[in-house]
Amino acid sequence: MNIIKANNYDDMSRKAANIISAQVILKPDCVLGLATGSSPLGLYSHLVERYQQGDLDFSHTKSVNLDEYLGLTHDNPQSYYYFMNENLFRKINIVPENTHIPDGTAADADKACADYEKTIQSLGGVDLQLLGLGNNGHIGFNEPETPFEQTTHCVDLTESTIQANSRFFDKLEDVPTQACTMGIKSIMMARKILIIVSGKGKADIVHKAFFGPVTTSVPASVLQLHPDVTLVADAEALSLCPL
Ligand code: GLP
Repeated sequence: MNIIKANNYDDMSRKAANIISAQVILKPDCVLGLATGSSPLGLYSHLVERYQQGDLDFSHTKSVNLDEYLGLTHDNPQSYYYFMNENLFRKINIVPENTHIPDGTAADADKACADYEKTIQSLGGVDLQLLGLGNNGHIGFNEPETPFEQTTHCVDLTESTIQANSRFFDKLEDVPTQACTMGIKSIMMARKILIIVSGKGKADIVHKAFFGPVTTSVPASVLQLHPDVTLVADAEALSLCPL
């Protein structure tokens, strides 16, 4: 695993944007695996800025997102569909038809998950998968004890994730309790993985995930087994790691 230490959140975002930019420049028709949450916001701003400056062209790029809440419509500002359009897609020249997000409103959610996995395969797999890290070590919405061999599937969110994500909602009761997420296997099949983490609050889980045993109780620990992972984290997030 390649670990890149950043000074702070913005430095992390810039360094991670460099890696995604390189991917898009070297392979314009690449498939990017994208993530939501607060971690990638700065990185997306950097990509938008570079696009506006004429340094990046997304016209041939394709994307697949990691996950989506079940039950939120596309016009709901808390849906990941809305998040991606607001923070990235509508600000760059990616073709809307080339962007893919699990359908959280499908009548048959299990079928929607199976179809999503087929979509990823039909695109030829993910070239570069961006990940954030949940407080409990989740990646996507793969909560602790998720079997490593699962592909895209529906999940019940843990209490800790519902609590953590309630900061984006008016009240706790508004947070969806289920989601559709790419599985650990779908994530591990990506050719390259980029995980970004910042802040003191994640120091303990970063240490467990990347320096502890590989275990389903810390889903991100599986990344230690992937041949091409880059962790870009700020000094606070890396403060407990023996570097
Ligand atoms: C959510 C998302 C994850 C994300 C995590 C961390 O649960 N499903 O993909 O990595 O939150 O979020 P944040 O970056 O806001 O800490």
